[in-house]
Amino acid sequence: MATYKIGYYQFKPIFGKFEENLQNVLTALQNIEADLIVLPELPFTGYSFKDRNELESMSEDPQNSQIIEELTKLCDKQNFHLVTGFAENNDDKCFNSALLIGADGILQTYRKLHLFNEEKYWFDAGNLPLTVTNINGMKIGMMICFDYIFPEVSRTLTLLGADIICHPSNLVLDYCQKAMVTRCLENNIFTITTNRIGEEIRPHGSVKFTGKSQITAPKGKIIHQAEVQQANLRIVEIDIADARDKMITNTNHALEDRRPEFYKNKLK
Ligand code: ACM
Repeated sequence: MATYKIGYYQFKPIFGKFEENLQNVLTALQNIEADLIVLPELPFTGYSFKDRNELESMSEDPQNSQIIEELTKLCDKQNFHLVTGFAENNDDKCFNSALLIGADGILQTYRKLHLFNEEKYWFDAGNLPLTVTNINGMKIGMMICFDYIFPEVSRTLTLLGADIICHPSNLVLDYCQKAMVTRCLENNIFTITTNRIGEEIRPHGSVKFTGKSQITAPKGKIIHQAEVQQANLRIVEIDIADARDKMITNTNHALEDRRPEFYKNKLK
């Protein structure tokens, strides 16, 4: 039996208030005991950019970011790993990214493959392959928010060996949580969907986020779901072995029973 403490911190980032948002996270996580914590999508900048120029002025190179330095120090001090959303600036591109961070800094970068709605005007679409990283025996994959609509993402991460998919989110629709039950059922994995709360009121419009961060287990079991509009830090203990046994019945294996030769078609 290999147990791990995994969790999320759901909160309300304030648009453009990097320092305040960082202090909020550092304070919330300063004394906790955990192995892995997931933060929301874009927790330091906020979400609702006016346009590409505004995003460019707020995005950062993670290799040269005080936020990442502080989060790395926190991982070192508390002896845990963190997955956080991040507005990533890379040369002349801006990505909606998720970073896996440990005591020595960034271990893995994921750049959102499926941009949602107006994100297509602000961000460049992700350009890195899906990857799984082994952290002290937990095999971790990352995806971001709207990626949940595309089952190919969680399936690919599962085929790469993921036990846990970390899923920073800024959800505005209300059916992701139900979809994550299916993602966990069909892949027999754990997922940590960390959503944010609150409303961002900007001169060009407002967006309300739907909370209800959720930790979902193999067989589609919801271990915990947060409130709609309350900040919430939740850590649960899981046994990673539950994600390794892919048998659905005595004769059905979630991955080996697939028939990929029949899935190929001319539709791509
Ligand atoms: C979303 O992908 N932020 C809805």
